[in-house]
Amino acid sequence: MSKAIQFFDLNTGAKIPSVGLGTWQAEDDPGLVAEAVATAIKAGYRHIDCAQLYGNQKEIGLVLKKLFDEGVVKREDLWITSKLWNTDHAPEDVPLALEKTLAEFQLDYVDLYLIHWPVAIKKGPIGAEFTAKAEDLLIPNLAGTWKAMEALYDSGKARAIGVSNFSIKKLGDLLEVARVPPAVNQVECHPSWRQDKLRDFCNSKGVHFSGYSPLGSPTWLHTDVLKHPILNEVAEKLGKTPAQVALRWGLQMGHSVLPKSANEKRIKENFDVFDWSIPEHLFAKFAEIEQARLLRGDIFVHETYGAYRSVEELWDGEI
Ligand code: A2P
Repeated sequence: MSKAIQFFDLNTGAKIPSVGLGTWQAEDDPGLVAEAVATAIKAGYRHIDCAQLYGNQKEIGLVLKKLFDEGVVKREDLWITSKLWNTDHAPEDVPLALEKTLAEFQLDYVDLYLIHWPVAIKKGPIGAEFTAKAEDLLIPNLAGTWKAMEALYDSGKARAIGVSNFSIKKLGDLLEVARVPPAVNQVECHPSWRQDKLRDFCNSKGVHFSGYSPLGSPTWLHTDVLKHPILNEVAEKLGKTPAQVALRWGLQMGHSVLPKSANEKRIKENFDVFDWSIPEHLFAKFAEIEQARLLRGDIFVHETYGAYRSVEELWDGEI
């Protein structure tokens, strides 16, 4: 196992930096996010994971412009991901959504553009408001939306395209009809939700698997992923923190990781995962960790509205 896993190869020929800063902030404080992006880039991060939903792309764009102007980093050395929100799945809305995102970032391309969820919602306000209105859930036409994504890839405004929160079944169905195969499937992944079958499927199809909530989103979802005794035992043996071990585990599993932090110390800690590795005998212990999905997507499931009658249907049984 080589220690430095700085990049992974995509099926487009591009190299995606293996650690990206997540920018979804429960506090919904755009100022905090801009600060975190600047701190991360100065600490060496070259990958920022964003989305229209997060409501902070404008602030991220402003800080990126400042960093470019100051010569801290060049655009071509950065990897910027964004995601198409569920209200913009109609083929005619897809290019408009990317234009809006590019305008917010003040950029002329993103490195990766993802369909955020295999879920379509009636046009309306982006954000938490939709949760109250189950009748706004629609039946997605993922093949149609993907065609519009392919046009963005052709235009060069999205240098790679992919999906997020897709099960094996949904990714397989998309691969059947895709002219441009998805480069990435970004999904929840941490030691307590390994997704072995989905990862194997992605690998077998040349789709890069990328892990969000790699620390188990401890503050937002109040989970105990970082408190697991195995993680803590390995961390103690290696003289690392449980968060570093969780991230390093992801890299050694072969996927990119997208930890969020708004704290300078933790942003730096989360990037200090390249010049050491988890030895085989400790790595094997992770297989014993009991598994549970944290982010179930219940808000996208309804007995009458939308495409999914149950969480099992949303994930095609991967629950
Ligand atoms: P904070 O922003 O105060 O650092 P995930 O990436 O799995 O969604 O988890 C993100 C959450 O984990 C954030 O709330 C963040 O809080 C916290 N976090 C980030 N890095 C660490 C770390 N190294 N140790 C403990 N908690 C962390």
